[in-house]
Amino acid sequence: MSARRPAAVIVLAAGEGTRMKSRRSKVLHELCGRSMLGHVLAAARELEPQRLIVVVGHRREQVIEHLAEHAPQAEPVVQERQGGTGHAVRTVLEQVGTLSGTVVVTNGDHPLLRGETLAELVRTHEREGNAATVLTTEVPDPTGYGRILRGPDGAVTAIVEHKDADEAQRAVREINVGMYAFDGELLEAALKQVTTDNAGGEEYLTDVPAILRGQGHRIGAFTAPDWVEMQGVNDRVQLAQARRLLNERIVEAHMRAGATVVDPATTWIDVDVVTEPDVVIHPNTQLHGRTRLEEGAEVGPNATLTDTVVGAGAVVSNTVADRAEIGPEASVGPFAYLRPGTRLARKAKAGTYVEMKNAVVGEGAKVPHLTYVGDAEIGQGSNIGAGSVFVNYDGVRKHRTVVGDHVRVGSDNMLVAPVRIGDGAYTAAGSVIVSDVPPGAMAVARGRQRNIEGWVERKRPGTPAAEAARRAAGRRADESDAGGDAGA
Ligand code: UD1
Ligand code: CA
Repeated sequence: MSARRPAAVIVLAAGEGTRMKSRRSKVLHELCGRSMLGHVLAAARELEPQRLIVVVGHRREQVIEHLAEHAPQAEPVVQERQGGTGHAVRTVLEQVGTLSGTVVVTNGDHPLLRGETLAELVRTHEREGNAATVLTTEVPDPTGYGRILRGPDGAVTAIVEHKDADEAQRAVREINVGMYAFDGELLEAALKQVTTDNAGGEEYLTDVPAILRGQGHRIGAFTAPDWVEMQGVNDRVQLAQARRLLNERIVEAHMRAGATVVDPATTWIDVDVVTEPDVVIHPNTQLHGRTRLEEGAEVGPNATLTDTVVGAGAVVSNTVADRAEIGPEASVGPFAYLRPGTRLARKAKAGTYVEMKNAVVGEGAKVPHLTYVGDAEIGQGSNIGAGSVFVNYDGVRKHRTVVGDHVRVGSDNMLVAPVRIGDGAYTAAGSVIVSDVPPGAMAVARGRQRNIEGWVERKRPGTPAAEAARRAAGRRADESDAGGDAGA
């Protein structure tokens, strides 16, 4: 049974979050590629609410900007003064008007929350015809949380905040998670009766269930079996714990979908990453943003890929890549750095100590060793010799280099852009190529070699080099005396 679309989900995110000790709004701290608030909104969106409302207050400019960028359908409502969770919801209803039907309220600092759990809360609420339904769970250590009080028949009677609880109440391990489903109109009426007569001096949303019960309405609870999912984040220690838990959940989902993850403990995968079956992820690999690994791709160890596509059967080891496209069966690394705009076609290679930026490498083309390729195009089947540099920057502007198909660039070349090397051309090792090379030509751009015989014995007498040279000269003389072969 699927829940009906709630009238609204209201996310509370106006609090200060002092324990984060941050200039950044607490709910904007990130884990697994999304802000805390973003995770809560993703869960909320699964309910397909008619309105998605976010209460903002502290550092609201940051939160409003974040919403505009990442969740444009969310409506920010400003709570000028943080008068408590009840005050926050009251502020919303005063600004947006009466919400008829089911209204879900959730704290903004519970990044592990799953949409399915909220849906279960709403289903329970509507099935039982409750005025309010509280999401609860049992935790080993309930310190700080609001406790759930139940009557002799097991029905929820009230929520008492930790600060206001007596000894017996503090022993209760069933807590208020901070998520609720309400009847919108009853919620609005009850909020008018909430006082600040409590230890926090705030309007508590948690007073609403007892108020409604006092009026003879039905209060229910949905008790979530997995308390781990229900943990809130108040400081950076809890943020790290939540990140690890969320990562475990994500990595597990990829494994169940057919990815081999050699070491889940050192593999970090953001929420929006996609993997296809039979990919292999080696230890110490981080997959960020919208990275996608296609069937059978092998990544790591020690790879950090951001918004990068790895084609089917490609191998990427010890590599950092950002916004790169690695074609099927391509080979990258070990120790490669692919920067934005790098596109390797099928079976292309970016090898060891190779850096690329804004570079398109054709099918089967290879850049195997110690090379920088910037602002360039390399045609299919070409090979770039070890230690070459695509010299793209004249100190003021960047220029392009175009290397044709089946070109052989020699080792240690400088290709000074703008420059074109025609199809099938060769360049000699050690060349500095400053002008275009026609197709099929051999370009040699270096000084002709000159050997000055006897220079070391004349200019560096007495050095080990001079001694070695003299010994070599002696051997050569003996060999020619003997008339034998010089080689072994
Ligand atoms: C709240 C609950 C508590 C529950 C706990 C779960 C109340 C009174 N208590 O306590 O029963 O066990 O959450 O984590 O609700 N906020 C606003 N405006 C405000 C005050 C708070 O938007 O004026 C937001 C905060 O940004 C936060 C959420 O509401 O996202 C909860 O507020 P917080 O102060 O953290 O409440 P807790 O003390 O954790
Ligand atoms: Ca809290």
